[in-house]
Amino acid sequence: MKKPIGIFDSGIGGLTVLKEILNALPGEDTIYLGDTARVPYGTKSVETVTRYSFENARFLLKFNIKLLVVACNTASAYCLHRLQQELPIPVVGVIEPGARRAVGITKTKRVGVIGTEGTIRSGAYFDAIKAIDSSIAVFTKPCPMFVPLVEEGWTNNQMARLTAHTYLREIKKQWVDALILGCTHYPLLKDVIKEIMGKDVALIDSGHETAAAVAQCLMKRGILEVASSQQGSHRFFVTDSPDRFRQVGGKFMTANVDTVELVNV
Ligand code: DGL
Repeated sequence: MKKPIGIFDSGIGGLTVLKEILNALPGEDTIYLGDTARVPYGTKSVETVTRYSFENARFLLKFNIKLLVVACNTASAYCLHRLQQELPIPVVGVIEPGARRAVGITKTKRVGVIGTEGTIRSGAYFDAIKAIDSSIAVFTKPCPMFVPLVEEGWTNNQMARLTAHTYLREIKKQWVDALILGCTHYPLLKDVIKEIMGKDVALIDSGHETAAAVAQCLMKRGILEVASSQQGSHRFFVTDSPDRFRQVGGKFMTANVDTVELVNV
């Protein structure tokens, strides 16, 4: 019996991670849960985000998932380890894959990290990078306005440029050569961020790295669905406003997000 991969995020942003997973693993079935009733997680406490994350995970476990992806950077930063310890299936988060890639890529040993207030405050990326190579200097900056900008569709206009310029000024002065986009929404601002940081700074999409980590984990355990002509099937659940998810979802994914089911977790 084919088992799906479960993925949750605080809302819609995790679709950037799902998109990468579908590109890397087209034969897999997936079940996505966006906690749109309680988004954003980025400004909430560790206790609250942890409680929400366990509720989301328990909901997805009902579908007999073989692996859980915590697509939300804030949730990964706050409670990935607890989820890994307490759930009966493998759990993959977005922090470690992004950190690993940054360490592999930096030549100057100067890495920048941007994310929500919660992700940056937690120090999760900082710790993950230092754990791999303590000689790397890490410069972090919360960029909370990026999330509403992306949801509004303002990813390539003057507002996006001005906001990105304001947030990235300090990090740019630090001459980093790799910048981790440590939030589900930020890959949609890649063009503007690139414009400001310059072509010599590698932008690291944690979602992209996470898809590779998911593939590796499934392969290691012998539960990878080998891609065949049979494409995987995909279900979407939200805790509020399925119509908005359907509309805005198109910006985050190329695949269809047509059937979105409303649930209470
Ligand atoms: N999904 C969140 C993250 O990656 C961003 C949105 C939120 O604050 O909930 O941290």
